Amino acid sequence: MNLVTIDRAYRVHIETFGCQMNEYDTELVRSLLKARGFTFTEDRERADVVLMNTCAIRENAHSKVYGHLAELKALKRQRHLVVGVLGCMAQNLKEELTETEPLVDVLAGPDSYRRLPDLLLQAIEVQEQGLKQRGMAVELSEYETYDDILPERTDGVNAWLAVMRGCDNFCSFCVVPYTRGRERSRDPQGIIRETEHLVAQGHKQVTLLGQNVNSYQFDAREGARLGAPGAGGCDWDFARLITAVADVPGIERVRFTSPHPKDFPPALLDAVAGHPKICKHIHLPLQSGNDRILDLMGRSYTRTEYLDLVDGIRKRNAEIALTTDIICGFCSETEEEFLDTYRVVQDVGFHAAYVFKYSERKHTIAARKYPDDVSEAIKSDRVVRIVDMQTGIAFRINQEMIGRTIATMVEGDAKRSSSQWKGRADNSLTVVWEKDGSRARPGDLVPITVSRASVTTLFGTEAPA
Ligand code: 5AD
Ligand code: SF4
Repeated sequence: MNLVTIDRAYRVHIETFGCQMNEYDTELVRSLLKARGFTFTEDRERADVVLMNTCAIRENAHSKVYGHLAELKALKRQRHLVVGVLGCMAQNLKEELTETEPLVDVLAGPDSYRRLPDLLLQAIEVQEQGLKQRGMAVELSEYETYDDILPERTDGVNAWLAVMRGCDNFCSFCVVPYTRGRERSRDPQGIIRETEHLVAQGHKQVTLLGQNVNSYQFDAREGARLGAPGAGGCDWDFARLITAVADVPGIERVRFTSPHPKDFPPALLDAVAGHPKICKHIHLPLQSGNDRILDLMGRSYTRTEYLDLVDGIRKRNAEIALTTDIICGFCSETEEEFLDTYRVVQDVGFHAAYVFKYSERKHTIAARKYPDDVSEAIKSDRVVRIVDMQTGIAFRINQEMIGRTIATMVEGDAKRSSSQWKGRADNSLTVVWEKDGSRARPGDLVPITVSRASVTTLFGTEAPA
């Protein structure tokens, strides 16, 4: 391929939609673009290139991107502007986006970001010559882990760090295996070196990311990713990896997301329960509390197995906070089956639950096999009932924190007022307190005595250290 050279510093504006993996990918993209001379701007009006790193997981994620594309139309009529769609929508909707959106000049899927700088430079050149030609890179890879790319991070406290990419689970509702491809794990030595580098840069917390971290596996002897779990003595699993990351001198906190309830390794629970640097929080997506629906979803666990796992976690360490994801109105879900989910959410008492209406996604098993036959009104009603109940639970859990003094990592200014700090407790709860008299700085761990609590936030005062 022709390497196009850059003759001035083109300004790029990037908008990120969706999950933390996308936040991380945006940082990878920034790094790849910076290395080729691009600069960045927060102001879309001043940009030569506008990129959208997109999400395909639910229809409303799509709608947001289409809304932003519509806004760019006027801007593009006035002047040269290269528009690029990155991420899961680019991968999944390449045909639609190329047919219906003449506005889009470049499409790049999650495994194709190394080609992005050239695609953008070519698009800029083509546009300056008054021509129209689209650049597209949407091949999925079995190997790409961007191991050698150091993401250009913008948050000074927490650093996202992807330890694996892709997913092989094929839950029937989920588009991720089609947009992010097959599962592959990064070399643990690269991850540990990156963590050391993060500490040197002043980061205090790292959050390890993977679509299903329980499947992380790497055989250092072969220097290769292995096949099926348990095959041939893999010497690095996720429990070993997270412990090694937490042992890096200078790192204060390690978080991770997400494990799959079907194969939660006892060694990982030991690590979370016992290692002082690994945060006491597990995000454990339930999706449904009914066995027939779980089976249709292809989740490979039953309601009882999930509840046993929760029990095991709590017996091991009662301080571990649990959060979850729920889908309401999956294909053919009856009221009784929904009530099974409702009761599990009620019985477990999650710190938080993210509740979604089922949204049929192109290419998925469910889209091919099961009709999306629960009405929008019923889906919405079920979401509201779970959210209402969960709100009460979260409020009660938070009230129990009043009077306790908790180690809180300062993240930055509170949303509502720059005279307050916002931070995070070990178990992931948000904490807000007055800056007045505080000598804390972002990244510091400070003891906060909780005096008041809402559904989402603990309020308190800095206790003497
Ligand atoms: N419809 C609704 N929610 C979905 N999720 C994934 N796919 C869909 C879909 N098609 C939810 C799951 C997952 C979270 C990230 O998004 O609950 O855990
Ligand atoms: Fe999607 Fe299931 Fe993979 Fe999660 S584990 S990314 S829900 S297919």
